[in-house]
Amino acid sequence: MSLETHGADPLVIRRLEFLGGMASADGWRPEIDLPEIAFGGRSNVGKSSLINRLLRRKAFARVSQYPGKTAEINFYRVNDEFLLTDLPGYGYARVSKEMRSRWATLIDGYLRTSPRLIGIVQLIDARHPPSESDHDMFAFLADIGLPTIVALTKADKLKPGDYPKRVAAAARDLGLDPEQLIPFSAITGAGRDELAEAIVSLLGQPSWRT
Ligand code: GTP
Ligand code: MG
Repeated sequence: MSLETHGADPLVIRRLEFLGGMASADGWRPEIDLPEIAFGGRSNVGKSSLINRLLRRKAFARVSQYPGKTAEINFYRVNDEFLLTDLPGYGYARVSKEMRSRWATLIDGYLRTSPRLIGIVQLIDARHPPSESDHDMFAFLADIGLPTIVALTKADKLKPGDYPKRVAAAARDLGLDPEQLIPFSAITGAGRDELAEAIVSLLGQPSWRT
């Protein structure tokens, strides 16, 4: 038994499939009747790395050297259980105003209108206080009432003693319970099973839209 797993794997990955990318709110998207969970966060926050860890694949979601490049919502099918969507990172300073507004229209439309969307995993860098764009995103999620799980990424870069302080500060900052935040490291795998468990429990809940 590995150190990171204390019992049965809450999310065993049997089948994974990349379905395609959605480039505009009224553009292509898969028509598959499975619940959908989105993953969002600032550019470079470690989203692709977290998804790879979660799905136990080395390089399934592309880990980018060029932040802000992906402008599409990528759809993945996980087992016969759910669709995972990888949202383009926001808050990257070096993209044009036009790109940013295109992004906002795409994400806004997707989050508001996807019929089977049941929740979002929102990623925040564990080392820094939530940014202005993180706050904007949270306000939007609260506004539409989408169930939100928060993962604090790159936790391996914190001193273990700083953990509780950073988690408490981020929770306070976002108006959440510290229990709603999951420290995560794509390097060590810390938080992988907790996140998987939170996702599985979200999948067991009735849709927030009904
Ligand atoms: P974009 O798609 O470009 O917005 O980035 P992303 O959010 O998908 O981040 P990505 O997974 O590509 O990681 C960005 C950088 O952070 C890479 O250099 C990763 O190696 C590094 N990184 C990601 N997760 C971790 C982590 O848990 N710990 C450490 N130390 N580095 C990480
Ligand atoms: Mg990425």
